[in-house]
Amino acid sequence: AQARIGLIGLGVMGANLSLNIAEKGFPIAVYNRTGSVTDDYVASAGDLAQQLFPAKTLEDLVASLSTPRAIIIMVQAGAAVDSVIDSLTPLLDKGDMIIDAGNANFHDTRRREAELSKLGLNFIGMGVSGGEEGARHGPSIMVGGDKKSFEVIRDILEAISAKHHGTPCADHFGPDGAGHFVKTVHNGIEYADMQMIAEVYGVLRDGAGRSAADIGKLFETWDKGQLQSYLVEISGKVLQTIDEKSGQPIVDIIVDKAGQKGTGRWTAIEALSLGQSPSTIEAAVAARSWSSVKDTRIAGEALFAELEPEKGAAKISDDDLEKALLAAKIIAYDQGLNLLSAASDEYDWNLDLASCAEVWREGCIIRSTMLDEMASAVREGLPQGNLIFSPRFAQRLVEGSSALRRVVASAALQGLPVPAFAAALAYFDTMRQGRGTTDLVQGQRDFFGAHGFVRIDTGETDQHGPWASDIAHS
Ligand code: 6PG
Repeated sequence: AQARIGLIGLGVMGANLSLNIAEKGFPIAVYNRTGSVTDDYVASAGDLAQQLFPAKTLEDLVASLSTPRAIIIMVQAGAAVDSVIDSLTPLLDKGDMIIDAGNANFHDTRRREAELSKLGLNFIGMGVSGGEEGARHGPSIMVGGDKKSFEVIRDILEAISAKHHGTPCADHFGPDGAGHFVKTVHNGIEYADMQMIAEVYGVLRDGAGRSAADIGKLFETWDKGQLQSYLVEISGKVLQTIDEKSGQPIVDIIVDKAGQKGTGRWTAIEALSLGQSPSTIEAAVAARSWSSVKDTRIAGEALFAELEPEKGAAKISDDDLEKALLAAKIIAYDQGLNLLSAASDEYDWNLDLASCAEVWREGCIIRSTMLDEMASAVREGLPQGNLIFSPRFAQRLVEGSSALRRVVASAALQGLPVPAFAAALAYFDTMRQGRGTTDLVQGQRDFFGAHGFVRIDTGETDQHGPWASDIAHS
C-alpha cells in the first residue's frame, strides 16, 4: 500500500494533524528531521500506527507516496520552510504538491508559489487554526493556491476539519497567498477579541475590585448568551483556575507581558499598506507591545502615583460590560472583513467573505455562535460593505454603542486603559458622522502644499484656497 499524503515536521501541530489524518482513514507518510522523534511518535500512536508510513529520509517519504504526491510541511514559519522546500523539490515530479500548513506570512506564500510553479510544482498555503486540540480533532482550514490542487486533497481536508452542523470548516479561498492571508486576519481578529476580553477583566479587577474567580464566573454566564465563544469560555476557565504551587488564582502569578509571534502585527502592517486601519486590531497589537515594557510601566506607576482618578466616573454595570463587549466585537469583525475585501481587490483573489466567516464558525480560536449570524449577514449583502450597517447588527449597535460609550467614558475617568474599546467606539462614531473634520485637514494640506481639494457645492476637483494671496497681502 502507498500513503495518500505525507507530512514533514512532527512537532505538536504536525503530530496532531497527522494523527487526525490517519484516524480519518488516510494512510500518511511522516518524517521528522530528528529520527527519534518519529520513532517516539509512531510508538505512541496506538492503533493508528497501522495508517502511518514512518520515513527515515526525505527520499523514503517521497517513495512511499502515491502520485501526484501531496506533502504537508508543518515546521516553524520562515526560513525553515524554505529550507525544507529546497531539500524536497529535487525529489519531486511535475504535478506534485507541497502544502505549507504553518502560520506563514502571505507574501512568502506568494513568492514560494511563484517559484515552485516555474518548476511545475503546486504550492498550497494553508492556514490551520484551533491549536493542538483542533489539529487532533478538527481544525478550521483556510486554503490558498491552485484550485485543482485543492480538489486533489479536498476529501482529506474536509474529513479532518471541524464541522458546523455537518458542513466542513475547510475551504479554498483563492490563488497563492489567499488562504494564509485569511488565516492572518483570523489571528488579527483573535488579538482584538482577546484584548477586549482582557479590558473587561481590567475594568472589573482594577475599577471594581472584583476577584479573578468572580470575573471568571461572569464570563461563564456570558458564554451562555450572545457572547458565546471559545475565547470567552476559556477566559472564564483561566480566571477560575487556582495555581497549585501558591494556592493563588493562576492569573495573579502570571507576568503581564504578552507574547506575539507576528500574525497580529502582520495584519496591522498589511492593513496600513492597503490604506486600511483596523483600529481594534492595531490597539490589541499595541497593548501587547506596551505590555512588554514592564519595567517602564512600573517606573511610570511610581512617577505618576499622586494622580487621582477624576471624579464623576459612573459605576459600570455587568450588563453594560456585556453589551459593550458585544458591540466592540462586531466592530472588530467589521474592520477585519473590510481588510479582507481590500486585500482581495489588491491581489485579485475574489475572496468570498461569507465563506471566510463560515469557515471560522467551528474549530478555530475565534469560533463563536455570532459568526454564523455574521456569515448570514455577509451572504445577504453588507450595505457599503460594512457589517455594522447590516440590518442584523445595526440595531444591536444602537443599543450596544451606548453601553460601549459608558464603559469607555467611565474607564477613562477612572484612569483604566481600554485601548481596543476606545478604538472601536471612535471608529463607530466616525462611521456615523456624515460630515467629519478632514475638511480642515484638506485646508491645511492645501495651505502649506497646494495639494488641492474637492468643492462640496460644485464637485470640482483640484481646487485651491485663496491662501497665497492672503499671505501676499499680509
Ligand atoms: C490558531 C492560533 C495559532 C497560534 C497563534 C498565537 O488560530 O490556532 O492563532 O495560530 O496560537 O499564532 O499567536 P501569538 O503567539 O502571536 O499570540
